[in-house]
Formats: sequence, structure tokens, C-alpha cells
Amino acid sequence: MAVLDAFDCSGRTAVVTGASRGIGRAIALSLAEAGADVVPAARSEESLETVVGEIEDRGGDSLFQPTDVTDEADVETLFERVGEEMGSPDVLVNNAGINPGDALGTPEAVAMEGYDRTLDVNLRGAFLCARIAGEGSVESVVNVASVGGLVGLPRQHPYVASKHGLVGITKSMAIDWAPEVRVNAVAPGYVATELTKEAMENEGLKESLLSRTPLERFADPEEIAAPVVFLASDAASYVTGACLGVDGGWTAR
Ligand SMILES: NC(=O)c1ccc[n+]([C@@H]2O[C@H](COP(=O)([O-])OP(=O)(O)OC[C@H]3O[C@@H](n4cnc5c(N)ncnc54)[C@H](OP(=O)(O)O)[C@@H]3O)[C@@H](O)[C@H]2O)c1
Repeated sequence: MAVLDAFDCSGRTAVVTGASRGIGRAIALSLAEAGADVVPAARSEESLETVVGEIEDRGGDSLFQPTDVTDEADVETLFERVGEEMGSPDVLVNNAGINPGDALGTPEAVAMEGYDRTLDVNLRGAFLCARIAGEGSVESVVNVASVGGLVGLPRQHPYVASKHGLVGITKSMAIDWAPEVRVNAVAPGYVATELTKEAMENEGLKESLLSRTPLERFADPEEIAAPVVFLASDAASYVTGACLGVDGGWTAR
């Protein structure tokens, strides 16, 4: 069926940042299942090595290159190695993200160090990866934003600033790089991962988050990965500058 062929990522090379666990890992594995060769990039060597193996088990070529997206030399080395060994990446997924404890709270309680670190990883890191990928033959960039990139979230000011910024540069890059490169974002609602572990363990908070979610449950990482594969693939060939909510209806309210 031609429509299904459009989702096929065979022959493409993808780099997925923050793919040592959680949503990034699910995106990397889903892209491999869709036929792509996939390079996961993150700092934790042991889990990264496991993900490289999982990609290869799915038939994708991969390579092991630990990378900190805040470190320009690291990011340059990553793209150089991918270019030399697998060909310049066609797809970049900017997924690496943090929301550390010292960046949470009312504005006066936020530690400025936590603010800077959050912006550094979530926004500057994504910008850096995109501009280095943009020097090559990248065709599709997908940024993993958040509902916090579309609406306010209490006590998450640096995170919300970084994700609104990410949605913003998704649009401006889409304009600058058209028609050669498509740039889109997804904005997930709450997903059960390491990032949200503490919130999920707080029964009161968990109930309150669920009561705001029309689908009445949190997402599995694979439910974020599938829309990312769609945006990365030719199935989204006329989609650019868009931010797709994948939030169980959170932003419909
Ligand atoms: N979970 C949710 O409910 C939710 C909702 C909306 C949006 N999101 C977004 O989805 C993305 C993934 O979140 P997640 O829930 O899967 O979080 P997670 O389980 O904490 O995973 C975060 C990933 O980012 C990587 N990372 C962190 N700092 C990095 C750095 N400096 N350089 C390279 N990689 C780095 C981590 O790997 P290392 O520690 O090994 O470097 C890890 O692979 C984030 O951008 C997050 O904001 C999540």
C-alpha cells in the first residue's frame, strides 16, 4: 500500500539525542523498526551501548558515540563520526531534555544554576545539534518539546521557557531551511519515564495530572515515538514548522 510506504525510513540515517532511556530510546527503536539506521546519543555509556544493540537487533546499523549535547566538541565529533561511517544524517531528533530539582518551584525559589542548565540542555543543545546537522544533508528535524512548550506549567519555569523556545526555533528554522529541510516538533503530555518518576510517586500530584488529561492515563514512550516517526518520514512531506500535541487531550482544555 503506497500510504504505508511513505512511513518507510529505509535507507535513512537518523541521530536521536537523549536516547539512552525513556522516550528517546523508544524513538530510536521505532525508527529502526521503520527501516532507518539509527545513532543514539547521550552520556550514559552502559545504557547507550544497550540501545545500540537493540537497534542492531531490529536490523538497523548503529554506532556507539557517547555525547553531551551541551558540549560543542562532543556534538561535532558525533556528526563527524556518523558522516564518515554511516553517511551524513538525513534525520535528527532532538530529544535530550532535563527538568532538574533545582529548577523547580516558584520563580523566587529557582536556582539560577538550575535555570541555566535546563536551558543549556533543552534549548541550546537542540539548537547546536540542528545547526551542525544542517551543515550536512539533513532532511527532517523533529524536536521533542512538551505541553510546557505550548501552555504554562506551575513551578516549572526554566523547563517551560526552554520548551517554548524549542517550539519557537522549530518555526523559525522551518522557514529558514525550507524547502530543503522540514523542521517540526511534538509536544508530549505526561509519559511515565525517569523524568516524571518523582511526580508519579506523589499520589496527589498524579491524580491532579490525570484529572487534567481527557484520555485519563499517561502515555507510553512508544506513543510519542510513533508520531515522531510520522514527522520524520515522507508521510509528513508537506508538514513543516508544526508542533503536534501528543498529550491525551491536555491542551484541548
Ligand atoms: N516524560 C514526560 O512526561 C515528558 C513530557 C513531555 C516532554 N518530555 C520530553 O521528552 C524528552 C525525553 O524525556 P524522558 O521522559 O524520556 O526523560 P528521561 O527518561 O530522563 O531521558 C532523558 C534523556 O536525555 C538524555 N540527556 C540528558 N542530558 C543530556 C545531555 N546533556 N546530553 C545528552 N543527552 C542528555 C539522558 O541521557 P544521559 O543521562 O545518559 O545523558 C536520557 O537519555 C525530554 O526532552 C523531555 O523534556 C518528556
